[in-house]
Amino acid sequence: MARHHIPAAVSKTFTRDTLQDGFEYLATMGLPVVLKADGLAAGKGVLICLTLQEAQQELIEMLTHSKFGDASSKVVVEQFLQGIELSVFVLTDGNNYKILPSAKDYKRIGEGDTGLNTGGMGSVSPVPFADAAFIKKVEDRIIIPTIEGLKQENISYKGFIFIGLMNCHGDPYMIEYNCRMGDPETESVLPRIESDLVELLLGVAEGNLNEKELIISDKVAATVVCVAGGYPGEYLKNKAISGMENVRGSHVFQAGTTQKEEDVLATGGRVLAITSLQDNLFDALQQATADASRIYYDGCYFRKDIGFDLI
Ligand code: GLY
Repeated sequence: MARHHIPAAVSKTFTRDTLQDGFEYLATMGLPVVLKADGLAAGKGVLICLTLQEAQQELIEMLTHSKFGDASSKVVVEQFLQGIELSVFVLTDGNNYKILPSAKDYKRIGEGDTGLNTGGMGSVSPVPFADAAFIKKVEDRIIIPTIEGLKQENISYKGFIFIGLMNCHGDPYMIEYNCRMGDPETESVLPRIESDLVELLLGVAEGNLNEKELIISDKVAATVVCVAGGYPGEYLKNKAISGMENVRGSHVFQAGTTQKEEDVLATGGRVLAITSLQDNLFDALQQATADASRIYYDGCYFRKDIGFDLI
């Protein structure tokens, strides 16, 4: 991102050998400041430190006392960005690109965005504050430099680019890239694509995505995820699911399920995603939530506040 002048939080990476440089860098940063374990830490390796002393202590814990094991043998010290997160999805054949609908996901297990992080408890698309002017900024400042940057660095990339962003007072800042779609964003994004997705994917494969049509519905999608009791910790498994036939105005996407003879069992942490497509966000949220409550399995839990912060 730095090489291609893509707006992002400023950051530097440190190891045990450069701990002293890390202290000096921390002293130049505003507060709060973010420390990230550079490796995978089950979603737990990010700390937001409110004071310099706390940040120095945590840097020592991560680098010299292996707070997150090997994952924190390298630590990124990063500027804290204040804003609302959203995700923008791009499909590219390496030269041409299409901007897919934006979405916002809700990662915390508890209502009011509280409790442990999960893979995602729900999503909405479009994101009300991601209007045409905002998406134009994303295109000019992030999408075009990303596609051009990949080309300049001889990285042949065809497929989805997941752009995780922070909207900081109307300006987009990159948080993360993923080379995939998102879950549960996909369940809100794909139902809004009216054109044939297979044609678009063919355009990616054959390098003529510019000749393909992308039609996006004006309707609003809301997705509510039903999870297993106990998730994201140890969770209940092999519980029979009932009531899916009572869902009236939503798609039911199955994820953590297994068919066993006549029964569908809840076997994963995130079991079902319930998506409703309606004329406005309020109706979509109400319908998805009402349909989620028509489904039963022992321990079933879903958030009833997904998206209501945006209304
Ligand atoms: N929902 C976040 C992700 O797919 O990474």
